[in-house]
Amino acid sequence: MGPHPGDDELRRRALDVLVRNHRDGYTVPALGLYPYQWCWDSGPIALGWAAAGRWDDAWGELARLFSAQWESGMVPHIVFWHEDDGYFPGPDVWATGHTPPTTGLTQPPLPVSAAARLFTGDPDRARASAAFRSLWPGLVAWLSWIERARRGPHGAVVIVHPWESGMDNSPSWDEPLAPVPAVTHKRIERRDVATVSARQRPSQHEYRQYLGIVDALRAARWDTERQPADSPFAVEDPAFTAITARAGADLASVADAAGLDGQEPARLAAAAHAGLEALWDEELGWYRPYDTRARRPVGPVTSTGMVALWAGVGPARLSRMLARLDVWAESLPCPLATSDPGDPSFDPIRYWRGPAWVLVNWLVADGLAGAGLADRASTLRAATRALVEQGFSEYYDPRSGAGIGGQGFSWSAALTLAWLTEERP
Ligand code: GLC
Repeated sequence: MGPHPGDDELRRRALDVLVRNHRDGYTVPALGLYPYQWCWDSGPIALGWAAAGRWDDAWGELARLFSAQWESGMVPHIVFWHEDDGYFPGPDVWATGHTPPTTGLTQPPLPVSAAARLFTGDPDRARASAAFRSLWPGLVAWLSWIERARRGPHGAVVIVHPWESGMDNSPSWDEPLAPVPAVTHKRIERRDVATVSARQRPSQHEYRQYLGIVDALRAARWDTERQPADSPFAVEDPAFTAITARAGADLASVADAAGLDGQEPARLAAAAHAGLEALWDEELGWYRPYDTRARRPVGPVTSTGMVALWAGVGPARLSRMLARLDVWAESLPCPLATSDPGDPSFDPIRYWRGPAWVLVNWLVADGLAGAGLADRASTLRAATRALVEQGFSEYYDPRSGAGIGGQGFSWSAALTLAWLTEERP
C-alpha cells in the first residue's frame, strides 16, 4: 500500500468502522454478527486504535480483555460483556460460571504481540510504560499457561476446538473433526446465517460438532489444565504455535526497555518455535497440523501453515512456501487464498475454506518484511488495499476480490489503519 491519493479517505472510512463498533472500552468484530469482545480480534483492533492516535482506546482494548483472564492464565475466546440475543452459542450454552461470562476456550495470543507494539509505538512514554507494565503479568501468565496446558507431542500448541484456531472451518480440521459426535438433541439457533448467506458459512453438521465439543468440555467442568484430554478434538496447530512463538519473542524484545525480565518469554518463544518446526512436512513443503488422537499430520495446505511466516522461517522452507503461493496467484488474482485451490476441499466463498482474509495477509506481509522481502510484502499490501478499498469485509473472494461475509469488520479496518500509518511519509 504505498502512499496514495485516496489515503485520507480510506483512513477516514476505516476509523468510522472502528468507532461504530466501539463499546464502553472494547470493540466488537462486527455489528450484529459478533456482538461481544473476541480474543484475538482485540490484538489487531488495538493496533488500529493506536494507528488512529487513540492510544487510550488501544491500551483500553487490551486491558479490558485481560480483565476477563482466568486464574489459570487462559484468556477466553469471547467475553460476553453485555447480554445480546443476536449470537449463538451465548453464555448459557457455555455455562463456565465466570464473571464476566466468557467461553471456556482461548484463541491465538495476538494481543500479546499487540501489547509489545503499543509499548514501542506510544509517544507518551509514561503511559506506555505504566500500561505495558500493568499488562505484563497477564501476558506472561497466558503464554505460560499455553505451554503448561497445551503442549503437544511435538512441542507445538494443541487446540481443543476449531474455534481456538480462529480459522473455524478450515479444511485443516476436517479429518480430526470427522470422528467428533454431532449434537443432535439440541436446537441449533444459528444467527450468523440470518445476516450472511449460508453458502459462506460453516455447514450445519460442522456446527453440531462444534457444539459437541463444547458439551464435552462443559461436562468436564472447563478444567483449563486438562482440556486436551477432555476434548474429542486435540490438534497441534501451526498458526497458533507460530503466533505463540512470535508473542514470546515480541515480549522478550521489549522487556529491557520496559525494565522487565524477558528471560521467561524468550524461553517460551524458543520452545514454541521448536514445536512449530517439528510440524514441517518436507514432502508437502508446508507446515501441517498434527492430530494427537489419530496420531498423524492432517489436512491439505492451508492458512494455518502460512502463518508460520510471521514467526520466521528458514530460507529453504521460505522459498518452498513462496513458490507455492506464486503458483496459487496465477489462478487467483486476489491473494491470499486460505486453502489450496487445487484441493477438492477448496471453496472460494466459504469462510476459512478459501477466501482471503485481511488478518492473514497482514501477518504474512509483516513476516515477509521481517525476512527482508520488502518487495513481496508491499505487493501483498497493495493487493490487500485493492480489497479493502471496496469496503471492510470479513473476507474476500480470491477470484474476484468481492467482499463477502460480515461487513464493517473491525480487524479489516484496523489493519488498514495500521498499514496506512506505517507508510505515512
Ligand atoms: C469468526 C472467525 C474468528 C474471529 C471471530 C470474530 O469466528 O473465524 O477468527 O475471531 O469470527 O471475528
